[in-house]
Amino acid sequence: MNKQNEITSKELLEQQYYIEQLKQENEKYFALTGRRKTFLCETWGCQANENDSEKMAGILESIGYVTSPSRQEADIIIFNTCLIRENAELKVYGHLGELSHLKKMNPDLLICICGCMMQKKEVRDLIKEKYRYVDLVFGTHNFYKLPELIFDRRQTKKMMIDVWDDGRDIIEGVPTKRNSDYKALVNITYGCNNFCTYCVVPYTRGREKSREPMDIIKEVTELGQNNCKEITFLGQNVNSYGKTLDKEFVFADLLRKANEIEGIERIRFMTSHPKDLSDELIYAIRDCGKVCKHVHLPIQSGSNNVLKVMNRKYTREDYLILVEKLRKEIPNIAITTDIIVGFPGETEEDFEDTLSLVKEVKFDSAFTFLYSIREGTPAAKMELQIDDDIKSDRFKRLLNILNPIVHENSLKLENTVQKVLVEEINKIDDSMLSGRNESGKSIHFKGDKSLIGKIVDVKVDSVNTWSLQGSVVNNG
Ligand code: 5AD
Ligand code: SF4
Repeated sequence: MNKQNEITSKELLEQQYYIEQLKQENEKYFALTGRRKTFLCETWGCQANENDSEKMAGILESIGYVTSPSRQEADIIIFNTCLIRENAELKVYGHLGELSHLKKMNPDLLICICGCMMQKKEVRDLIKEKYRYVDLVFGTHNFYKLPELIFDRRQTKKMMIDVWDDGRDIIEGVPTKRNSDYKALVNITYGCNNFCTYCVVPYTRGREKSREPMDIIKEVTELGQNNCKEITFLGQNVNSYGKTLDKEFVFADLLRKANEIEGIERIRFMTSHPKDLSDELIYAIRDCGKVCKHVHLPIQSGSNNVLKVMNRKYTREDYLILVEKLRKEIPNIAITTDIIVGFPGETEEDFEDTLSLVKEVKFDSAFTFLYSIREGTPAAKMELQIDDDIKSDRFKRLLNILNPIVHENSLKLENTVQKVLVEEINKIDDSMLSGRNESGKSIHFKGDKSLIGKIVDVKVDSVNTWSLQGSVVNNG
């Protein structure tokens, strides 16, 4: 056992005491009432938060709680929050306000709020002052202590706040209740060291740390044995995986190892920072049959001036060379991106550079964002913040260029046969199934629900900008 695992098992062993105590109480409650206590975990934000919520759900199940179908019926409500843009933050306050009447009706309801927003002192102060009915406040680094926090809250009977500035060691072995049986998120790094000037993540998630390869491989092997077909390796920048390890082992090595694991049929990853996507990684994506031929490569802006002030550490020219190299080695690779509009100081010329870059690269898809001021980041203090109406106008102009390009790329898929992992019954029409092709595009088609969890061949019959319709030609 390596040193890190020794420490983390000690931390988890401590939690085991609280798990046992709470479990006994829950079993008594069940024996008396015939009802299991329930929880509801609502998640905002990115896949890192989703993965944390899956772990919290796993912890609560190990204590004997079951998932609640609604807030009204829940004994524990957890809000796992996001701070990346202002609208994500405002939404949480709205929802938190709605919980006050539930707490009045059921004073035993345990309201917990955690995640990125809680890493900010101002937010915690606001919760203390305005949302006094909240029971537990904790952060991104210590959610694994949920059993202890719940136990202590029972004793103190007042709001408890426990937030750490940075993670101590990576905690391995936390039970996880995954949202899907067939797809799994697998963290490979935590935190971020890049300090893009607009971004709060380095402040909410702390310094970058890599998990030990053998812990990751063990997790993926178990997933493969349990019928999971697709894994997504998660990191703020997967390219820098391995930097904190005491041996030479890089992300390309991890992909090659994971490619050999039985049962797993698809490997995705996100996100790759354009500043350090190595040739070695390109070759690994090319060579590994299970690795999806798709890279999410956030450009953020097409202007060198803006990229510099954003602290992105690459130029427009570097990015274009990288795209060319990827397409040369892996001809049909899908390239998707993130773009921010209205970063402080962005001139009309800078914005036009973004438009021309979008036309040049012809992205398969893109997430587009209005720049949002995040207190505590360098960009928040920059002069020349852009007016909202200019931002919105540029945003619309960007979509007018981007959407036809995405549509054109989708049209290329018409009449092709796509490998699709069938994920679920279609949310709107229950005679249809939905899944994703290798590049992550949604595809809807008629089929029996026994296909869920399988990878099937689907012929694309028609195309919308953001999704495809098709018919099964071979059911695995
Ligand atoms: N404003 C707008 N978009 C942002 N992103 C990160 N911070 C901000 C911000 N302050 C976007 C970036 C990043 C994605 C996850 O969120 O495009 O790649
Ligand atoms: Fe934020 Fe930049 Fe880190 Fe991505 S790489 S999480 S944008 S600081």
